[in-house]
Amino acid sequence: MAAIDLAVIGGTGVYRLASLQDAEAIEGDTPFGKPSGPVRVGTIRGRRVAFLARHGEGHSLPPHRVNYRANLWQLRQLGATRVLAINTVGGITERFGPRVLALPDQLIDYTWGRASSIWDGEGGEVLHVDFGDPYTPSLRAEVLAAAARAGVAVVDGGCYGATQGPRLETKAEIARMRRDGCDLVGMTGMPEAGLARELGLDYACLTVVANWAAGCSGDAEITLAEVLAHVEAASAGLPGLFDALLG
Ligand code: HPA
Repeated sequence: MAAIDLAVIGGTGVYRLASLQDAEAIEGDTPFGKPSGPVRVGTIRGRRVAFLARHGEGHSLPPHRVNYRANLWQLRQLGATRVLAINTVGGITERFGPRVLALPDQLIDYTWGRASSIWDGEGGEVLHVDFGDPYTPSLRAEVLAAAARAGVAVVDGGCYGATQGPRLETKAEIARMRRDGCDLVGMTGMPEAGLARELGLDYACLTVVANWAAGCSGDAEITLAEVLAHVEAASAGLPGLFDALLG
């Protein structure tokens, strides 16, 4: 299996990589079941890139039903060693308004009931992987350098709070997350990051801020139309960033 230079997991509103050429759709199975959909393996600037839509290509899987284990297992099985995850989020603190791209460096996990370890079979290994820095520093540095070369603004750092969803949060929940130190809130950051660490994959999370989180901008209702419009606008910088990252 030829190595894959970069695997990209697309979140809400990011179902294709526009610059991926000659892509082949690979369906597959894993010990954990089927991934969210086909992995599209092609090239960007002559480098092999794999793309997987986390929620399925028609966005049919809610965050708590995504088979995170199967997705990462499949990417690794296809030869990926580094994963850049794209996650749509709400912004909590000032620097993280709608349309901002950010590369968080910390996370807090508020999810529950998700299969959160590769190693939970009877008689299997019990692993306590180091997770002090949940995102791989060297991959983060590469993405930040590529963004700077491409002239794409990306906020360096921030704390991602992973909630269970699929409903959005209450104002009180967001106020608590702010007190906890969260800058961003999303529903898919965990267990994905922890599983990637268990599997020995380099992993970084590129967040696309789609809205102010509940109560962070008055009483305005958060609508799907708003979320998708902001994601589309913020995603305009992604092809340039990927080009620079793989160039
Ligand atoms: N909360 C949780 N997840 C999200 C949000 C939000 O406000 N916006 C986009 N994904």
